[in-house]
Amino acid sequence: AATWVTGGTGDVPAVRKVAVLGGGIMGAGIAQLALVSGYEVVVKEINADLAAAGLKRVTDLTNEAVKKGVLDREVATERLRTVTATSEWAPVEGADLVIEAVIEKEKIKRDVFTELSTRLSPRALLTTNTSSLLVSRVCEPASGPDRVAGLHFFNPVHKMHLVEVVRGPDTSGATIAALVEFVRKLGKVPVVVNDGPGFLVNRILFPYLDEGVRLLLEGYSTETIDKAAVRFGMPMGPLELLDQVGIDVAAHVAKSLGVVAADPSPTPDRLTAMADRGWLGRKADRGFYEYRKGRRSHPT
Ligand code: 3HC
Repeated sequence: AATWVTGGTGDVPAVRKVAVLGGGIMGAGIAQLALVSGYEVVVKEINADLAAAGLKRVTDLTNEAVKKGVLDREVATERLRTVTATSEWAPVEGADLVIEAVIEKEKIKRDVFTELSTRLSPRALLTTNTSSLLVSRVCEPASGPDRVAGLHFFNPVHKMHLVEVVRGPDTSGATIAALVEFVRKLGKVPVVVNDGPGFLVNRILFPYLDEGVRLLLEGYSTETIDKAAVRFGMPMGPLELLDQVGIDVAAHVAKSLGVVAADPSPTPDRLTAMADRGWLGRKADRGFYEYRKGRRSHPT
């Protein structure tokens, strides 16, 4: 029998089965976290090759956790046996919670929410991991606006403690309560935030990243900027962090934040030009730095 979570208007079932749409860096990271936290997990991709690549990411992250000593080998093996990676919709259909982590394109995400509304139980919670789009826009096609929200994880998912639970225009209190409980069960710290460009964290983070790019354009070297930030106490410098986030993703976020910035910044154009050249950061072995076998080498 379902366990129920209350906390506002209406009841929602407690989460048991989680479907993650997209097996990329964020999708696989979220799926792996849910898997090792004991949830039944389905990862859906758009074709069999990408589904296999997503499953490999989940497996690699799990093996890394065992190597780091934060996960028991037997538990890892047992959990990995339960994960489903697929290009079909059918295994997604019984999910209590869907986390959409597909490409950061509004039309594609909206189409996903249209599809979800026809396939999932009207009780299922539907969330988006978007970082640069408005939850109200992405989720608008969903049929139950009280059960949609943003669930914004940070990269790398298994190391970052915070998760933003983003309240859409009609998200119910019960939905927020269920998502807060879910995030806590993942061992993360939830923060409930309002919908809007950059939500909360990226509004704080991106001015810092923006200044890193501006300093570079003013003639400071990549290493001077990043080393100064690290010596100041940041975990990594702004340019290395942009590479880690992904230059393409960062370009989208920077653009979306342009609407709330006090003065226009050259950063969105600079990041877009880099992304257009395929310099996507760590994942493409080239961004502000070059990477050889995953290790940072010299600035480009
Ligand atoms: N599974 C689970 N936990 C793991 C793990 C694994 N496989 N590997 C490591 N961990 C845990 C460690 O046990 C440790 O936990 P603790 O803090 O409780 O002790 C923690 O993860 C950190 O591990 P490490 O010591 O290996 O990590 P480092 O000291 O090298 O730091 C970092 C790595 C946390 C990534 C740090 O460099 C950092 O914070 N960088 C900034 C990252 C950041 O800001 N990301 C956000 C980007 S913005 C974004 O994503 C939003 C988007 O919208 C743009």
